[in-house]
Amino acid sequence: MKVVRYADRPDLRARRFEELTRPTFPEYMNHNEPGRDWDRLYTDFPDFQVALVDGDDLLAEAHALSLPWDGTLQDLPSGWDEGFVRGMTSDRPHTALMAIAISVAPSQQGRQLSTRMLQAFADNARAAGLTNGVIAPVRPTWKLRYPLVPIERYVDWRREDGSHFDPWIRIHELVGGEIIAPAPESMRITAAASDWAEWVGMSFPEDGEYVFPGGLATLVVEDGIGTHVEPNVWVLHRV
Ligand SMILES: CC(C)(COP(=O)(O)OP(=O)(O)OC[C@H]1O[C@@H](n2cnc3c(N)ncnc32)[C@H](O)[C@@H]1OP(=O)(O)O)[C@@H](O)C(=O)NCCC(=O)NCCS
Repeated sequence: MKVVRYADRPDLRARRFEELTRPTFPEYMNHNEPGRDWDRLYTDFPDFQVALVDGDDLLAEAHALSLPWDGTLQDLPSGWDEGFVRGMTSDRPHTALMAIAISVAPSQQGRQLSTRMLQAFADNARAAGLTNGVIAPVRPTWKLRYPLVPIERYVDWRREDGSHFDPWIRIHELVGGEIIAPAPESMRITAAASDWAEWVGMSFPEDGEYVFPGGLATLVVEDGIGTHVEPNVWVLHRV
């Protein structure tokens, strides 16, 4: 197994969406506004877009971008959207790495490959001199079971042994990550209720607030337009 840059492997980049994104993320997540600049990651931040491969098999991938962050809570972006835009547009010197996403191919999950990808973030931040560390707007994987619980409460849920209740946050903590803040408004996705119906497989016949399959929070439909604001949890990995 080895980690390669997508910039060096256009063949893998051409396969990644179908093999990794589509099977691991719900369709609606491909429709947030800043995400329209996704392709710029490969040209403007080539060192941070990597895949874990075994021969020609795509096992996992990690995306990230550098951004200015002074290390304080006050300067922390509100979430994924704001961090992505800041990394793409700010003139301030870049001092931290923001994790954008990790995907492990469904057939490879449970092999501890995600910690390998978290390690790649830390290695890349160190190599690039991003001394304020890696910040990750973590998408808690079990939050979809509790879409009505505020993230400010979910973030504090722990198991009896003290480890975090959420499996993905637990993995971040296992490799040394520290929860620094909830991000109640991390990623906003707005689209016609008919688009939402197609993406999530249920219809929204009238305005109102809905729980929907796979959502970490609810969908609010107003005048036929559905808005979902995904909550995340900021985790810091010092480098
Ligand atoms: C979330 C995701 C990245 C986790 O990866 P995974 O391959 O399923 O999980 P892992 O194999 O790394 O971890 C499984 C177990 O091994 C443990 N583990 C992982 N690395 C370890 C290590 N180096 N040493 C000891 N234990 C380890 C984990 O703590 C976990 O155990 P637990 O749940 O009993 O606490 C993966 O499921 C995925 O891609 N999901 C879909 C996309 C997604 O949601 N991505 C995250 C949002 S960006």
